[in-house]
Amino acid sequence: MTDSYRLAAVMGWPVAHSRSPVMHRYWLERHGLDGDYVKLAVPPDRLGPALRGLANLGFAGCNLTIPHKETALAFLDEVDPQARAIGAVNTITVLPDGKLHGANSDAFGFIANLKAGAPGWTAASGPAVVLGSGGASRAVLAALLQAGVPEIRIVNRTQDRAAALAKQLGADLKVLPWEQRNTALAGANLLVNTTSLGMTGAPALDLSLDALPAAAVVNDIVYVPLETPLLAAARRRGNRVVDGLGMLIHQGRPGFAAWFGIEPEVTPELRARMVATLATP
Ligand code: ATR
Repeated sequence: MTDSYRLAAVMGWPVAHSRSPVMHRYWLERHGLDGDYVKLAVPPDRLGPALRGLANLGFAGCNLTIPHKETALAFLDEVDPQARAIGAVNTITVLPDGKLHGANSDAFGFIANLKAGAPGWTAASGPAVVLGSGGASRAVLAALLQAGVPEIRIVNRTQDRAAALAKQLGADLKVLPWEQRNTALAGANLLVNTTSLGMTGAPALDLSLDALPAAAVVNDIVYVPLETPLLAAARRRGNRVVDGLGMLIHQGRPGFAAWFGIEPEVTPELRARMVATLATP
């Protein structure tokens, strides 16, 4: 007997804040699919058993959020090379034989959002400047390297952390001290903020855009607020801007396609629904 009902989930701790169900339920509804996407509150010490339980409970797979993205690697049967390079997994698929396959869709989500938000942007057009060296930065750097950006400058408060990340990614990245963040923008074609600066409740991002060419695209990973002070400043001086909510939405696409068998679209209606969820804590 077969059953068309399919389930997927997001595992996190805490998980209550996750907006992923809004997105996946929108796609399920839009495509008339029988299934659901739920939140699973899984404490760190229960991740292994929780993942092993997926197949028995009939889940097609799950997303992972904080604090599971790195620790999950140890519990998977197969890990996609890009996820291995990033050192984190956020999309797990239960294979037909019950084995678990892990991938990372953040790099895909970043580049898909950038291309959708800044049509015509190409990797070959010039250097990129990436602020920050945390988890989000890893995915952004992996995406830019894969896209073939000719020169990547990482600027981070803790320069050693940026240098370690560059070494780990095995690429020729330029690591610059935080004090040089303003001048690092000279000649750049893309600026990406992956730090938490500018987020509601976090300190401001103290950055002068004077050296940034007018043709450069500015992308902020922060999406609360949706229009960060960085994006507002970039827009005022004529740069094209791309907000961070799109990365969150686009990173959901590979999981949905793997679990439910349909390539989902990012529509204005979906974006509007996600924006509405940002208003609630
Ligand atoms: P995530 O995984 O979401 O990327 P993270 O690992 O905490 O989060 O990384 C946050 C990034 O913001 C880091 O690059 C951090 O710089 P450090 O590596 O020096 O910690 C950066 N960041 C946070 N607060 C900062 C501040 N006040 N000034 C400059 N950079 C800051």
